Amino acid sequence: MTAQTAGTGASGAPRLGNARALSCRECGKTSALGPQYACDECFGPLEVIYDFPRLTRGAIEAGPHSIWRYAPLLPVPRDIASRPTTEPGCTRLVRADGLAAELGMRRLWIKDDSGNPTHSFKDRVVAVALAAATEMGFKVLACPSTGNLANAVAAAAARAGIRSVVMVPANLEEQKILTTAVYGGTFVTVDGTYDDVNRLASELAGEHEDWAFVNVNVRPYYAEGSKTLGFEIAEQLGWRLPDQIVVPIASGAQLVKIDKGFAELAELGLVEDKPWRVFGAQATGCSPVAEAFAKGWDVVRPVKPSTIAKSLAIGNPADGPYVLDVVRRTGGTVADVSDPEIVDSIRLLARTQGVFGETAGGVTVGVLRKLLDSGQLDPDAETVIINSGDGLKTLDAVAPAVTVPAAIKPTVAAFQAAGFDGTDI
Ligand SMILES: Cc1ncc(COP(=O)(O)O)c(C=O)c1O
Ligand SMILES: [Zn+2]
Repeated sequence: MTAQTAGTGASGAPRLGNARALSCRECGKTSALGPQYACDECFGPLEVIYDFPRLTRGAIEAGPHSIWRYAPLLPVPRDIASRPTTEPGCTRLVRADGLAAELGMRRLWIKDDSGNPTHSFKDRVVAVALAAATEMGFKVLACPSTGNLANAVAAAAARAGIRSVVMVPANLEEQKILTTAVYGGTFVTVDGTYDDVNRLASELAGEHEDWAFVNVNVRPYYAEGSKTLGFEIAEQLGWRLPDQIVVPIASGAQLVKIDKGFAELAELGLVEDKPWRVFGAQATGCSPVAEAFAKGWDVVRPVKPSTIAKSLAIGNPADGPYVLDVVRRTGGTVADVSDPEIVDSIRLLARTQGVFGETAGGVTVGVLRKLLDSGQLDPDAETVIINSGDGLKTLDAVAPAVTVPAAIKPTVAAFQAAGFDGTDI
């Protein structure tokens, strides 16, 4: 039995809620829902399209406290909330007055996705990929990853009681290695870059029909999970869209899907339709999309990454051209910041907001600051930035920049001798 025929409904189509078909992003050709990810006409990437029902804010608000409150807008079975998943989402939207004051902004919010079950936004996309993959008959959940996806796939598979096969570059942060290995799936560390691992995954996907590589052969479903970031931000703002949003870019899927999420809410009349501007953030050591934007290209030229922002180190981003479309259409931009600026920005966020982001968060805050300085971001417009992962996973990045004082004896005299009584501390 192939993945194509297993687990499907009587009609042969997988039961994925209101999802209707797959549509080619390049030529628009539609195909039936299934484990297909490239157009058979032009090889373009496929996108899920829907027959949306009439949906009210009240119905969503009465739903589960997880991304499954938006299940009618996702390619997942209708009973998804009662299946074993990690139940990601509904992370906090933090009003960032401290950081706003430091940067001279009026209304700034942080969507803090470090609060997900494995501490990054990847739990969202993996939960949707797993639901669709199971429905299409896949038996194994797999991925090539820059780290956070590895955590999310290993955990989601463990929760669902299925096998995982997770592959990462061997030089990842130790925290991300351990927090994947602990879940006990098949864990492969590869001598090579993420782009090498991704290539290997594509070859393996061809050999193992019942393996769902979440970001390869079930990518159309996986990517839809990031729409929930857009949905939540709007709901948490009181069913409004922000004026500006800054999003980190690795493959670019998160950025593209947040924009799609906003557009769907407006189309469904769940928010007032108004303009929003989308800004992309990369590390200078891996900034192929920023380069393409700056040079006015429609295509993205691959690079070999070298940056402390390993979670964003994708040199050949699958959604790069679509990021360029979104950013240009909405009047945003894509910018990049250096490794020292990333570290500075992680500390700025921690110091002003009490939020400890991973390097991707540092990239986003760094780009926010840079675009304010250059006048490309409006300091008076309501702005949301995404903190997509937890600083505890990238400790090495900040360790050299943080001073830990020497231990003292447990006496008042030692406390005073060390200068901790001073008013200047
Ligand atoms: C923490 C974090 N933020 C952002 C991203 C970028 O996501 P995308 O590949 O959808 O652009 C990643 C990707 O791995 C990530 O791990
Ligand atoms: Zn096509």
